[in-house]
Amino acid sequence: MKYAIFSDVHANLHALNRVLEDIEQQKVDRTVCLGDLVGYGAFPNQVVDKVRDTCDVVIAGNHDHAAVGIMDISAFNEYAHRAVIWTRDKLSAINTKWLQSRPLNVVENEIQFVHASPVEPRKWHYIFSKDDAQRAMEHAEAGTVFVGHTHVPFDYMTRLGRLINVGSVGQPRDGNPEAAYTLFDTATGERRLIHIAYDVHAAKDAIILEGLPPFLAERLVMGR
Ligand SMILES: [Fe+2]
Repeated sequence: MKYAIFSDVHANLHALNRVLEDIEQQKVDRTVCLGDLVGYGAFPNQVVDKVRDTCDVVIAGNHDHAAVGIMDISAFNEYAHRAVIWTRDKLSAINTKWLQSRPLNVVENEIQFVHASPVEPRKWHYIFSKDDAQRAMEHAEAGTVFVGHTHVPFDYMTRLGRLINVGSVGQPRDGNPEAAYTLFDTATGERRLIHIAYDVHAAKDAIILEGLPPFLAERLVMGR
């Protein structure tokens, strides 16, 4: 079975559109979004509409929970905080309700999908290193686990299974400003990390135009 898996769109419609066009060419069986659909970018409703229409599985991320009032945002940094408040105001009632009802964790075909970590999914732990990955896999519910959350792709083979971070569509932080997503074939175990160029400047201009923090626009160009 062929999967397309992406995460952390963060209301970046320009990046999402290009990624979905590419996925369309790949003829996959299932498309999965690992959460953080909103927060930071200028198009929360358009992104939620599009993800709902195109994905078979959609997991909730911390920014989704923050935007729909499920989690406390006092620990968010200034930029994330301002973006959450702006997003809350913009989201339609239907989209708010739909985001509130997304699952934190889905297991299918011996694969686990979760936004941050298989350890206490609701606590949004960060996985930065192979040591973090080893510890996280002790709580895995399948031999292969896909996550997002840090916006930095990785592929760690641990003694308990494989942990893959698919990177970020809408706000990459690995130094490459292109949108990232992952193709995975369950028959061969092959994982392909795909990078897609998109109109970063259009996404950046839209953030400025909406009066969101300029830093959120600038970092798209740097991919940091
Ligand atoms: Fe995120």
